[in-house]
Amino acid sequence: MYILGMESSCDETSAAVVEMSDGVRAIRSNIVASQIETHRLYGGVVPEIASRAHVEAISRITYEALETAGITLSDVGAIAVTAFPGLIGALLVGVNFAKSLAFSHRIPLVAVNHIHGHVAAAYLTHPTLEPPFLALVVSGGHTSFYRVTDYTDFCEIGGTRDDAAGEAFDKIGRVIGLPYPGGAALDKLAYEGDPKAITLPSPALGGDTPDLSFSGIKTATLNYLNGMAQKGCEISRADVAASYTHRIVQAIVKKTELALKKSGMRTLVLAGGVAANSHLRTALEALCKRLGVTLCMPDRALCGDNGAMIAAAGYFRYQRGEFADTSLNASANDDGL
Ligand code: KG4
Ligand code: ZN
Repeated sequence: MYILGMESSCDETSAAVVEMSDGVRAIRSNIVASQIETHRLYGGVVPEIASRAHVEAISRITYEALETAGITLSDVGAIAVTAFPGLIGALLVGVNFAKSLAFSHRIPLVAVNHIHGHVAAAYLTHPTLEPPFLALVVSGGHTSFYRVTDYTDFCEIGGTRDDAAGEAFDKIGRVIGLPYPGGAALDKLAYEGDPKAITLPSPALGGDTPDLSFSGIKTATLNYLNGMAQKGCEISRADVAASYTHRIVQAIVKKTELALKKSGMRTLVLAGGVAANSHLRTALEALCKRLGVTLCMPDRALCGDNGAMIAAAGYFRYQRGEFADTSLNASANDDGL
């Protein structure tokens, strides 16, 4: 069946057509209208601007997705839309558009948790992947470990106590003058620096839990940068990028090993925007090889927000008969996880 997936939780408006059935997981189209250039002017996402840009793009993107897939609305078996978590105004645009489309064309509607969507991107890249597994979702808003026991059953077993890894990358990226969002640029710059040049605190919290905290390393890096500026010393941006990335990746790997041990899972799924980080991918590959654990990561192009991942997650809710109706509302929080 064809699922139309719609995503508008933050700064990408996306619509996609994914074909899903037993043995078939194929992306027929995946159109993403990014607002990054607009928000870059402000150094971060401006919620009101994001909502307006979603309104402007959503209809065009949806029909482009259908046209690229070579189908019409009458071929669509279900519409899946991100309903939470995210920016409330941005989410409402997608939810209301999807509701109108679904009810005017009598197409079943499915509400999708954005986090489940990120994890579902792995099903598209790895056609034989199935639960149970441990999922590590690292994005701009989340850094969490989940025991995934069925396609729609997630249990959070640990994660960050404060900021998300993506947020931490973006913050330091901005401070050292990289364009927003700093994650991808920091990833590249880190190859040019020395990961041992600056001593920074580990984001891995002490104790026997897979928990992290990124506020300490952020503050320590800011203090280092301010201290150097006060002394009139030049800094190496590449050394900052390399040391910061190294410490974050090292902590995530350490806690992933613990989460695997605690959950007893033998498969790890890495998902979310930060899953595109090449240092993290390489380090987790090494960890999983050492532990004999199967690692499934979405293609880098599917790590960021996109409609295809929402369609894939929506398919499994559809299969369970979990439909939404006209009372569907968006929520900024993780309700329903
Ligand atoms: O999942 P996502 O697209 O949006 C949220 O749901 O938050 O994640 C966006 C985050 C941003 O913080 C961005 O800087 C980060 O993912 N990101 C990266 C890389 N590519 C994107 N962080 C580190 N390395 C990358 N290569
Ligand atoms: Zn996301």
